Amino acid sequence: MKKIEIAPSLLSADFYNLKADLQRCQENKIQWLHYDVMDYDFVPNLTFGAKILQDLTSQTNFKIDIHFMVKVKSKNFTDFFTEYLQTKPAMMTMHLEAMSKKETYQFIDLCKQNHILASLALKPGTKIKAILPFLPLLDNVLVMTVEPGFGGQKFIPEAAQKIHDLKMLASEHNYHYTVEVDGGINEQTFQVVKKHKVDMAVAGSYLFGQKDFSERLEKLK
Ligand code: DX5
Ligand code: ZN
Repeated sequence: MKKIEIAPSLLSADFYNLKADLQRCQENKIQWLHYDVMDYDFVPNLTFGAKILQDLTSQTNFKIDIHFMVKVKSKNFTDFFTEYLQTKPAMMTMHLEAMSKKETYQFIDLCKQNHILASLALKPGTKIKAILPFLPLLDNVLVMTVEPGFGGQKFIPEAAQKIHDLKMLASEHNYHYTVEVDGGINEQTFQVVKKHKVDMAVAGSYLFGQKDFSERLEKLK
């Protein structure tokens, strides 16, 4: 069976000791890191921008998945992403709910032009119908299993059904996207998403700030 990629979410890392947390990821052969950008508008929380990511990527070789929880306000929509593109992320994820149709196509094009995996995220309440027109173009769909904005929330089981539906659609239509899940992942909820054949699982508070990072990671295998 194909291995599920585990992407630790830096949102729950210790920013005073960030280097130690990153080294823990390296020692445990983590490939992907999840980087949550929040704007205190699309979500009721504010996090970090491109500078920290720039510093981090200049010293490490992780594949970065930037999860943007933002409403873009720049006059030219794509300008917002310029600084992030310089950090050469492997994947960029924008929320479908945060963009117009035109912006969604612009976002996907921007990713493709820069050889970055194009990914769209769905909030727990957003129906799959809304993402259908974009599915043939996508490299990844991020299914939120908590309301976006904070780490350490409880997994919403009903949202996980979307993983199953998205996987079905992909095999029916031969779409190539992977499915990622984000929010409330621990050793129990991981079993639920595994059953639905998810490709990547983000884990924040389950891994960071815990004494037994390696043991916990092992339980997600
Ligand atoms: C929440 C973020 C998540 C968050 C997950 O809006 O998108 O990436 O870090 O945290 P946990 O794993 O603690 O639910
Ligand atoms: Zn996230």
